[in-house]
Amino acid sequence: MTKAKGIVFTEFGPADVLHPAEIDVPEPGPGQVRIAVRAAGVNPLDHKIRAGYMNQVFTVELPHVPGVEASGVVESVGEGVSGLTAGQEVFGPTVSGAYAELALAEAVRLAVKPSDLGFPEAAALPVGAETAYRTLQVLGVRGGETLLVHGAAGGVGSLAVQFAVARGLRVVGTASVSNHERLRALGAIPVTYGPGLVDRVRDAAPEGVDAALDTTGLAESLAASVELTGDKDRVLTIAGPDAAGEYGVAFSSGAGPDGYLGGPAFAEALALHATGTLAVAIHHSYPLAEAADAQRASEAGHLAGKIILVP
Ligand SMILES: NC(=O)c1ccc[n+]([C@@H]2O[C@H](COP(=O)([O-])OP(=O)(O)OC[C@H]3O[C@@H](n4cnc5c(N)ncnc54)[C@H](OP(=O)(O)O)[C@@H]3O)[C@@H](O)[C@H]2O)c1
Repeated sequence: MTKAKGIVFTEFGPADVLHPAEIDVPEPGPGQVRIAVRAAGVNPLDHKIRAGYMNQVFTVELPHVPGVEASGVVESVGEGVSGLTAGQEVFGPTVSGAYAELALAEAVRLAVKPSDLGFPEAAALPVGAETAYRTLQVLGVRGGETLLVHGAAGGVGSLAVQFAVARGLRVVGTASVSNHERLRALGAIPVTYGPGLVDRVRDAAPEGVDAALDTTGLAESLAASVELTGDKDRVLTIAGPDAAGEYGVAFSSGAGPDGYLGGPAFAEALALHATGTLAVAIHHSYPLAEAADAQRASEAGHLAGKIILVP
């Protein structure tokens, strides 16, 4: 096979710019493997890049195949790769677009997928697990503390809740009412966001809030976090670098100085899976050709789990 099915955009713009195309089969370089993609995760980053919002930070060349995470089967192994062989089931970040039948990944950044973890669930993990793990590390949370998570039902938030609960924290998570039952099942105390948030969090956590993780980038989330913790050093956002500067709190990104912590993050997720306590909700699986609809749903937000593309 010299060509593979993929999704491409040749100009920045709305979801309509995404279209199916035949792409060149990517050849794995040193340290890389080629994966036959079984499922690709759809992240807010994908539509931000497509819209052209991220050009300063994530410069992409056009035409571009979107997607940064996948699960699949190792198909071809590049020079110097040890520990992975053709036929192994893996998941992790991709270095070529994951919205495709075939994608490249750095071998050392992949995790072996347990046979009892589905491909869609595995594809839903890499970005969420790495970000959740990294931000809890940067916040320095400890068992016995109370953590506030804004956007707790989201791809990142739901894993942050699970990692924090597993470490013995009390977690208060903000979400729409439709996601409250799911948050309770993860071990968090759900509260509705919007006006009155600070009082609702105080009612939910009368012992006080020690640290706050924000996945919304909204001023109201950061203001509430600073007020509730009383300590800007224990507030971190992943979505609002400008708002972070305004409120004097930390912003973290996987490409930033905090480093990329996929290895320990995937190990923690897999440890929870091994005990039967990892919950990965899938909002909807779309066929690859319907990537534009998948991104429209992602942009609309308020999901009940992760959006997945299946080649
Ligand atoms: N810097 C990094 O390293 C990094 C890494 C990954 C993601 N991100 C960014 O982080 C953000 C979240 O990513 P994600 O994958 O978790 O997105 P997601 O799965 O779409 O989740 C977003 C969540 O935000 C919640 N939300 C919407 N409006 C809110 C409000 N006013 N207050 C509180 N929560 C609200 C939604 O809750 P309901 O559905 O319950 O309404 C939803 O659960 C995106 O902007 C993404 O680009 C950054």
